[in-house]
Amino acid sequence: MSELITCDLHAALKTLPEPDRAALEAGLPEAREAVLQDARRAAEGCTASPQKQPLDAAFIDWPDRLLQDMKENGADSLIAQIERCATRLQQTVDTVVVIGIGGSYMGMRALFEALADPFHNERTREERGGIPRLYFAGWNVDSDRQQALLDLLENRVRRCGSDGPAGRTALIVISKSGGTLEPAIAFRNLRAFVERHFSSDVQDLIVPVTGTTGRLRTLAEQAGFRDVFSIPEGIGGRFSVLTAVGLLPAAVSGINIRRLLQGAAEMTEHFRSAPFEHNAVLRHAAIGHLLERQRGLTIRVLSTWGSHLEAVGLWYDQLLAESLGKQERGATPITGVNTRDLHSRGQQHQEGRRDKLIVNLLPGPPRHPTQKIPLREDDADDLNRFARHSPASVLEAAIAGTSQAYAADARPTVDLKLPGITPHSLGQLFQLLMLSTVVEGELIGINPYGQPGVEAYKKNMIDILLRGGADTGDSET
Ligand code: PA5
Repeated sequence: MSELITCDLHAALKTLPEPDRAALEAGLPEAREAVLQDARRAAEGCTASPQKQPLDAAFIDWPDRLLQDMKENGADSLIAQIERCATRLQQTVDTVVVIGIGGSYMGMRALFEALADPFHNERTREERGGIPRLYFAGWNVDSDRQQALLDLLENRVRRCGSDGPAGRTALIVISKSGGTLEPAIAFRNLRAFVERHFSSDVQDLIVPVTGTTGRLRTLAEQAGFRDVFSIPEGIGGRFSVLTAVGLLPAAVSGINIRRLLQGAAEMTEHFRSAPFEHNAVLRHAAIGHLLERQRGLTIRVLSTWGSHLEAVGLWYDQLLAESLGKQERGATPITGVNTRDLHSRGQQHQEGRRDKLIVNLLPGPPRHPTQKIPLREDDADDLNRFARHSPASVLEAAIAGTSQAYAADARPTVDLKLPGITPHSLGQLFQLLMLSTVVEGELIGINPYGQPGVEAYKKNMIDILLRGGADTGDSET
């Protein structure tokens, strides 16, 4: 087994008196058992009790099931089908737009920002090794942004033509329900663009990923798209990153999805079998819960270090907020990016209200460790004294220095340490955070699945539109 993420609670526990610390493990064996039982029930399609409706726990065994399917069914397995579709898109288009909102796009955004070259879309096709440019749409309502994307794609067709890959765009449209308005509107506009320019290949250039029923499913069947992928029953939006929702666009982006799934499967096994002292999932859930219950720390700051992991943090914001923010309970997640936010939020974290647990998400060694601070003869900026250091060691010093400052003021911190930013470690991380969220749901008596509170805005928005709209219109301009 390769190196796993660790969860170091040392600094957080030091801020607590011994009797409080003793409560750390309380309820965890039962919570783990309940989560594993939910996984079994979801996998077998059993009906859940009313308090556990919906029961979207099938994400827990899903990576294992996909890997097993690959062993047994080879070229017919789902992984192989996803990889084939990804290769076909890589060979035939230079741009892919991923359309989706919430759990239907945030996981892929996290993967892309963590693993891709940060300037991927600016590179030539050759520099990108034939990997298409990737854009996201439908994750908001913003007509200016949508128009700007359409203009960009139109210009590419005008410049490069519609016959070869250079001018071509494919769409991956993702919605489990198939009825979410924001991505549906973006899809309608982008679909019209594809039909206008690549009319003979529309069926090849649009790939829906959707639930087994719903409007997008029906639309896909009527249109006869060549590839359509399903989001399994029993896996909800924000738990779906390791289904075709994340795997297809990840494979298109050249990410090794087998390693991603292996990392996730190893984390599930670790959760199942490791004792509490080493169990990263249980430790992560336990410390957040303990500090919230004993100390009233209701704000969880996921402090990411470096620039690769911000979107992982945004994905986790959604996961924690939408899963546990129910019945007037659930901690409030915030994503930080350091050292950037030490210059914006740092003051408050060091000296503000004592309502925060800081969880450092430590990225491990950089991919290009050779960069150095260059020596200069004039040394007017006085940087020669750091010249034996690399930017990576500056980041390490910032992490150590910040932890030291928080410890000195008894501000609790936890370290989630990645062995590096790779598909394998990200698979682990997604699974760790999803499992830890559902364990915490057990501890606080909240069903982490479903998001009943989001329905109110959707219903009101649709009612307002059907009544004629709250249209600000063109009259003011
Ligand atoms: O976690 C969830 O279930 C939500 O965030 C959904 O992913 C989001 O609302 C999009 O839903 P859908 O995929 O049905 O369009």
